Parts: sequence; structure tokens; C-alpha cells
Amino acid sequence: MSTAAATADAAKQPLVFYVTGASKGIGKVLVQKIIAQGDKVAATSRDKKQLTDIFGQDSEQFLSLAVELATEESVKQSIQDTVKHFGTIDVIINNAGYAATGVIETIADRHIRDNFDINVFGVFNVLRYGVPILRNKKSGLIINISSVGGTIGFQGFGAYCATKFAVNGLTETLAAELKSSNVKVTSVEPGYFRTDFIGNAKENPEEAGAPIEEYKPIYDFIHHHNVGIHGKQRGDPSKLADILVGLARHQGDLPTHLYVGADSNEYALAKLKQQVADLEKWQSITSKTDFDE
Ligand SMILES: NC(=O)c1ccc[n+]([C@@H]2O[C@H](COP(=O)([O-])OP(=O)(O)OC[C@H]3O[C@@H](n4cnc5c(N)ncnc54)[C@H](OP(=O)(O)O)[C@@H]3O)[C@@H](O)[C@H]2O)c1
Repeated sequence: MSTAAATADAAKQPLVFYVTGASKGIGKVLVQKIIAQGDKVAATSRDKKQLTDIFGQDSEQFLSLAVELATEESVKQSIQDTVKHFGTIDVIINNAGYAATGVIETIADRHIRDNFDINVFGVFNVLRYGVPILRNKKSGLIINISSVGGTIGFQGFGAYCATKFAVNGLTETLAAELKSSNVKVTSVEPGYFRTDFIGNAKENPEEAGAPIEEYKPIYDFIHHHNVGIHGKQRGDPSKLADILVGLARHQGDLPTHLYVGADSNEYALAKLKQQVADLEKWQSITSKTDFDE
């Protein structure tokens, strides 16, 4: 068989996806597309019934998994169950996530830690048991769903942005660590997409104490975000899911950061340009700190 024919043959083989947070939003439409194009998918949720209500019973193409992402044993079991059901995993998509809101001065420690448990430590748990499968066969793709809030800190969303900056940091590191193993790793950073994500954002005013006058514009921003923007986001999750499934069969390298959505591209470009400009402006001072040897 020629190399071209072998590549075409491989491109037709069904891929096995493992997708977290699949009962709603981006994860749900993504799993629907994976099944529709003939690939296979293990889908996780806190509530297995939600998955079976949407996608039906387990089959040759589909496996529903009840998983507590913050619990290492639960994640480990789900990866083992996926391999038992499908024989392998080709694409891992760490999608589950939510936003705790509130200003940094007053957001409760518990809400920050809970947000990190799902958005960051849940991702580490999946990678701890998922990476060896891809690394050992020297192929595959890992997509971590971050956010443009992983490149820019937005007021009122400090805890969430901190989790997504962490996701970007671990993704860059993993991409470097797996380069020689031929496993692709990318961080997808969406802007606003019309899901229940904003509706599911956790606002915790009851624990924030008395409102602080100086922060009123930020409280208003959070409120406007949760009420005014919800349902009017410009991004179509179906188009985002098309990009994600396309990445799985993309030939060649992928960028470590992929900004998705016109808003995400626009915000990120402005931020990155400003960051380069700041670096260059200060470089004559900040780059002269080596020992005089
Ligand atoms: N929509 C946007 O505008 C937007 C923008 C930037 C980034 N993102 C990111 O995209 C990803 C998907 O968000 P989405 O828009 O699809 O939101 P969504 O509609 O609220 O769905 C979020 C999914 O994450 C899981 N999840 C939420 N809170 C969880 C928790 N406490 N423990 C475990 N799982 C939890 C849910 O899984 P269950 O099945 O267990 O309920 C759910 O299926 C998230 O990582 C989010 O940060 C979204």
C-alpha cells in the first residue's frame, strides 16, 4: 500500500474520544457530532442518567460514565472502563468546567478551591491516567478547553480566570513533554458561546459580606454578564464543536493556543500585542539582572 493510501485508510478508521462534561453545552453538541460522523465516544457527567436520556444506552459507539472529576479514583475507573469498552483512547477532550464569580478581595476560599477542583485538578486527574495510553502508542490528541479568560484576567472572574490560566500553563507544559511521543496537545480558548455556561456561573454574594462601594461597577458587570449576556452570546457551540472534531483528523502540527470566536481572537490579539509592547518598553531595564561576571 502506498503512503498516501495508508494515510487515507487511517483517516477513515473510527477514533475513540473521551469527553468530560458531556451532558450540556459544548460537550453535548460535540458528542452528538462525534457519534454522527461514525466515531466512538466515552462521555462523562456527574449524572449518568442525563447522558442516557440524551444519547441512549451504551453501544459500540457510545459509553456513558458517571464521573466525579475531582476524585482521582473515579476518573481512573472511567479511563479503565473506556479502554475496556473500546480498546483504546485516541482523543481526550477536557471540557467540563464552570465559573465562580466575585471580586478577589471577598470571594470565599471554598469557592475558589471548588472551581480549581473541577477546572484544574479534574484535568490533571484525567491526564494522569489518559496520557499513558496515548504516549505508549505514540499518537493521539489532547484538547483542554480553556477560555479567552485564560489569556486575559476579567474583573469579577478572578477565580475562574486563574483556573483557565492554570489550564493554559499545564497545556503548554504537556505539549512540550509529549512532543517526542507524537501526541498533540492544544488549549482551545473560546470567547462567548451560547450555552448555559453563564447561567451556571456561581455567584456567591451571601458569603461576600457587605457590598463594597468601590466595587459596584464590578458587581454590575457580573450581574450584566449573568443576566444581560446570557442567551445572547454570539458564538454558536455547534460551530465550535465542528472545529474540535476537525482538529482530531488534522494532519500536521496544531497551535498550543487556539482562540475560537471572533471576540476571543479580537481580545487575545489586543492583549498579546500589549504584552509584547510592555515587554519591549521595559526590556532595557528588566533584562539586565544577570550577575556581572
Ligand atoms: N460557553 C462559553 O461562553 C465558554 C467560554 C469560554 C470557555 N468555556 C468553557 O467551555 C467548557 C464547557 O462549557 P459550556 O459552555 O458547555 O458550559 P455548560 O453548558 O454549563 O456545560 C458545562 C459542562 O461542564 C460540566 N460541569 C460544570 N460544573 C461542573 C462541576 N461542578 N463538576 C463537574 N462537572 C461540571 C457539566 O457536566 P455535568 O454533565 O456533570 O453536568 C457540563 O456538562 C467549560 O470548560 C467552560 O469553562 C465556555
